[in-house]
Amino acid sequence: MNYIEILNKSQKELKKLKIPSPSLDCEILLSKVLNVKREYLLTHLDKKINEEEKNLFIKYINRRKKKEPIAYIVGYKEFWKYNFKVNKNVLIPRPDTEILVEETIANIPINSSFRILDVGTGSGCILLSVLQERKKCLGIGIDISNQAIKVAKYNAKIQHLENRCKFYQADIDNICSSKYDLITSNPPYIIKNKIRNLEEDVKSFEPKLALDGGNDGISVIKLLINKSSILLKKNGKMIIEIENKLLFKIKKLLIKKNFYLEKITKDLTNRNRCITCIKLV
Ligand SMILES: C[S@@+](CC[C@H](N)C(=O)[O-])C[C@H]1O[C@@H](n2cnc3c(N)ncnc32)[C@H](O)[C@@H]1O
Repeated sequence: MNYIEILNKSQKELKKLKIPSPSLDCEILLSKVLNVKREYLLTHLDKKINEEEKNLFIKYINRRKKKEPIAYIVGYKEFWKYNFKVNKNVLIPRPDTEILVEETIANIPINSSFRILDVGTGSGCILLSVLQERKKCLGIGIDISNQAIKVAKYNAKIQHLENRCKFYQADIDNICSSKYDLITSNPPYIIKNKIRNLEEDVKSFEPKLALDGGNDGISVIKLLINKSSILLKKNGKMIIEIENKLLFKIKKLLIKKNFYLEKITKDLTNRNRCITCIKLV
């Protein structure tokens, strides 16, 4: 069997199960099996696949048939300018979160040596992307999940950033030492009883800890805002990814804790996605 034949066969199988982008998924998975770039695969479609490669590819296709996200099958996700290791213990970094990275970088003068805290760091994608752009900054990433911290540490190592950042397992509610120039966070913000309405690949595979914002969607955000009012230096900034519908509630919490709302950034679908605020006192 050659590459094009096995691709066609598996694309049909995924299509039958209504999996979106079946062709792309199959090409990505076959490239992973062959350890080649997709471009190479697409220009060598008449090459023969060997038995070992075929068996591994079928294994991957079977996982995808059960709706497992491609990023977990291949073990990485491209975010900002880098590939991040991911596994079932971390949220797969989303393109929307690049808005938060962009906004954070815009708030750090180029040669400044800010101390940054990233709350709910997951794969470390936010903190590490920011540190790549601001070479004199240092960062701490915390996450309630110890398994997520292992992934973040691995990503720091492969990006040669381990000397400028530390990752700790901690609940934001228990952090009280140190002062930071800037805090970033993409906290969990899905309302608990709405999790069941998410896409199958999200609700069945991504960690609940990364999604569950409690009964009102803002339980972790509340802890984050309360703690950040202590952890941030005066005039320090906090940049948070939010869910559009929670904006009003979050604004109220921020004002109550003496934050000035400097900017709200929209995503490509014109929804409010990111808040930049300043700690006033
Ligand atoms: C939406 S994910 C974001 C992951 C990553 N920062 C990203 O943007 O891809 C939220 C993360 O917050 C962590 N988390 C949930 N509750 C937390 C808490 N109370 N304290 C610290 N981290 C928490 C979860 O384990 C998860 O990794």
